[in-house]
Order: sequence, then C-alpha cells, then structure tokens
Amino acid sequence: MRLILIGPPGSGKGTQAKMLADEKGLMHISTGDMLREAIAEGTDAGLRAKAAVEQGHLVDDDLLFEIVRDQLGELGKEQGFILDGFPRNLAQARFLDELLRQMGIGIDAVLLMDVPDETVIRRLSGRRVCSRCGKEYHVEFSPPRTPGVCDLCGGALFQREDDRPEKVARRLEVYKEMTLPLREFYRRNDALITVDAEGDIQEVYGRICESLCSARD
Ligand code: AP5
Repeated sequence: MRLILIGPPGSGKGTQAKMLADEKGLMHISTGDMLREAIAEGTDAGLRAKAAVEQGHLVDDDLLFEIVRDQLGELGKEQGFILDGFPRNLAQARFLDELLRQMGIGIDAVLLMDVPDETVIRRLSGRRVCSRCGKEYHVEFSPPRTPGVCDLCGGALFQREDDRPEKVARRLEVYKEMTLPLREFYRRNDALITVDAEGDIQEVYGRICESLCSARD
C-alpha cells in the first residue's frame, strides 16, 4: 500500500502514520521529522530549513525535492510507504506525480485529515516533547507522571518552537493557503479520502482503516 497523509498541523498525521506503518509494514516518511533531525544535527539541509520550520513557514521546495527523491529512491518497488507531510503545495504534488511515474508506481489513497481549528490549537498548545529521547506527551490527553519530566528517561520536556500560539496560527494559515488546494488536485485523480480526524486516537485510526477497506472494495 502507498499512502499520502494530508491535514492541518495537529490533525494527527504523525500519530496515525506511525500506527499504520507498524500495523501494515509500511515505511513512514515524515518530512517534518526529517527536517527536525537535520536541524538538530546541524547539517546543510538543517541550516537551510531552520528558520522556516521555526517560524511555521514552508521550507523551500528544492530542499524537499532532494529529500523525497532520496528517500523514495532507497525503497524497493514492492515496499509500501506513507508520506506524512508531503506534498504540501501544488508544485510538490506535481513533482511527486512525475517522480512516481518515473519509478513506475502509483498512490493507492490520499487521506485528508479533517479537524476544526479549535482542535488543532488545543492539541498543539499542549504537546510536549522529551529533549532526550523524543517521546511526545500532551499536558491534557497524555500527561507525564511528573509534570515536565519524561516517564521513560527522566529528560526535560519542552514545547516545540512552532507549537507556540502565534506560530500555530501561521501554520494554519499556510495550510489553508498552500496545502488545502491539493484537495482538488487529488479529487481529480479519484484518490482522495476525507477522514473525520476529531475524536480519540483509536477512534480516528478505526475510521482510517474502514475508509481504506471500503476504497479497496
Ligand atoms: P510537520 O512536523 O509535518 O508539522 P505539521 O504538519 O504541522 O504536523 P504536526 O507534527 O504538528 O501535526 P500532525 O498532524 O503530525 O499531528 P501529530 O500526530 O503530531 O512539519 C513541521 C514543519 O516542517 C512545517 O511547518 C514546515 O516548516 C516544514 N515542512 C515539513 N514538510 C514540509 C513540506 N512538504 N514542504 C515544506 N515544508 C515542510 O499530533 C499532534 C498532537 O496532537 C500530539 O500531541 C498528539 O499526541 C495529539 N493527538 C494526535 N491525534 C490526537 C487525537 N485524535 N486526540 C487527541 N490528541 C491527539
């Protein structure tokens, strides 16, 4: 199976992509995770991406094209994958179409995670990440046993720079302006499945699995 996950920040793309990848043996390709890793390691790519990621803007298409070309190029033709956070604008969607055409493969479904802005703000404002092992918490939905301290490794928890309220507002604007038009792009290809991403994590996962099953029938 080859899937694309699209949705506003905080719609649960990363959470659901990890669950799907584990259960269905797919490669999880998250451009956001790769960019954050590059920034933490101080690589060239990280230096090119840092300001845009921290401010909640999109990173240059050229850098994303390099990253995605390399990642997909490493996969065998039979390996299924989930693209989480790519494409994010029309230029990226066209690039991906052409790349997949050259590779002789196609996408089975594009899942659009649909949630209201209030839910996004609530989810992102409460997210905390362990500075040592990367485990994620939520102050309301999945709090650590001791506030500010990771249950697993005792590391200090921090808030992602782009989860601060003014950055979340910008990420939502960027999503609506740049990414939402992809809905029409993929609707034309008949690949689009809109998923109600409101509700708890298992509930949303159940809806995704049901939609994928019905799309196959
Ligand atoms: P990226 O990391 O992709 O950020 P995002 O899309 O804004 O995604 P998030 O990780 O914030 O949200 P998510 O939808 O994955 O939700 P999650 O599962 O984490 O990208 C970061 C930046 O990198 C971008 O802003 C941009 O600068 C750059 N970038 C990346 N890709 C790019 C591209 N293609 N082109 C250009 N630039 C690019 O969940 C969020 C929180 O909610 C968590 O705490 C989670 O536990 C909680 N949660 C999830 N689901 C539920 C639920 N059902 N109920 C309750 N809580 C939930």
